[in-house]
Amino acid sequence: MNYPTVVISGTRLGQEIGATRSKVWRLVEQLRTLGVEIAGHASSGYQLTAVPDLLLPEMLDPLVRGTIFAGHIHHYYRVGSTNTLALEAAAAGAPEGSVFLAEQQTAGRGRGNNQWHSAKSTGIYCSVVLRPAVPPSDVVILTLAAGLAVQSAVQEIDSRMNPDLKWPNDLLVDGKKLCGILTEMNAEATRVRHIVVGIGINVNQTDFPSELEQIATSLRMITGTERSRVELCAALLKSLEREYHNLLSNPQAHADILRRFEEHSSSVRGKHVYIEENPELEGVTEGLDSRGFLQVRTRERLQIVFSGTVRLK
Ligand code: BTN
Repeated sequence: MNYPTVVISGTRLGQEIGATRSKVWRLVEQLRTLGVEIAGHASSGYQLTAVPDLLLPEMLDPLVRGTIFAGHIHHYYRVGSTNTLALEAAAAGAPEGSVFLAEQQTAGRGRGNNQWHSAKSTGIYCSVVLRPAVPPSDVVILTLAAGLAVQSAVQEIDSRMNPDLKWPNDLLVDGKKLCGILTEMNAEATRVRHIVVGIGINVNQTDFPSELEQIATSLRMITGTERSRVELCAALLKSLEREYHNLLSNPQAHADILRRFEEHSSSVRGKHVYIEENPELEGVTEGLDSRGFLQVRTRERLQIVFSGTVRLK
C-alpha cells in the first residue's frame, strides 16, 4: 500500500516486514485469493495493480482522525458476524469506538431471525461498540440516529440519493432495502453496559440471490456507478460520531432526531400499515412517540409498536 502501482522486489518487501522471499510469495498468493490485484512474481518483483477498495485500518484511520473510532478499527476478511465479534470484544472490555469490519460474513445477522446477505467485498459490514451512560430506554433513539447517520453518509457520497427511512432503521430506495441496522445491547435494568450498532450497506452488488431480488438493492444498482466502500465507510463513521456526540451533549438532540426521522420517512405518518410479526396490528401510522416507538391508529385505539417489521397495506 505504501508503493501503489510501483514494482517492488520480493526481497525489499521481505526486509520491510521481516520475512523471507518465499514467505512474501506465499503472502502475495494469499492476498490474490482474497481479491487483491497484484501483478508480477518473486523474480521480477510485485506490483499492486490498483489500490484495492478494502476496508483496512490503514485506509480508514487517516480519514476518521479525531473521531472516537480512530485507532480502534479492526478488519477481517471473513467472519461469521461482525456483531457477534463486537459483542464478544465489548464483553471482554473493548473500548468505546471499537469498529469491526469484514469483507465477508458467513453468518451475517438481521433483526428477528433474519440473515444478512454479505457477499465478499461488495457491501459494508460494520459493527461499532458504544458505551453511552444512558438507560436502556434511550437506545431506540440511538438506533434512529444511526439510520439518520447512514442517510447523510449516503447523500454525502452521492447527492442525488435520498433514501427513505423505514422505522425503526432500514434505508429503502424505491421500496427496496439499501441498508439494515441491527442494534444489540448488554444492559442492567437502568444502565447500558455496552451497545453494538451493526450496519449493513449494499454498495457494489450487481445482483442478489433470487429470494432477495425483489426486496434488496445496492448503490451501484441504483446509480450504475461503482463506489468506493472506503469513502462511504469513512463518511458513515464520521456522521455516526456527529449524531452520537450530539445525542449525548445536546439536550435538544432527542426531539431533533425524532423530527428529522419523521422528515426523512415516508411511512411513519399517514400510511396504512400492518406489522409482519403481528398482522392483527393494522392501522394508520401516526408518527413516533417521545421515546421513538411507532404509533399506529388501529380501528380500536392508538397502539404503540415496540418491535417488528412494518409493511405497507
Ligand atoms: C436488518 O435489516 O435486519 C439488520 C441487518 C444488519 C446487518 C449488519 S451487517 C454488519 C452487522 N453484522 C451482522 O451480523 N449484522 C449487522
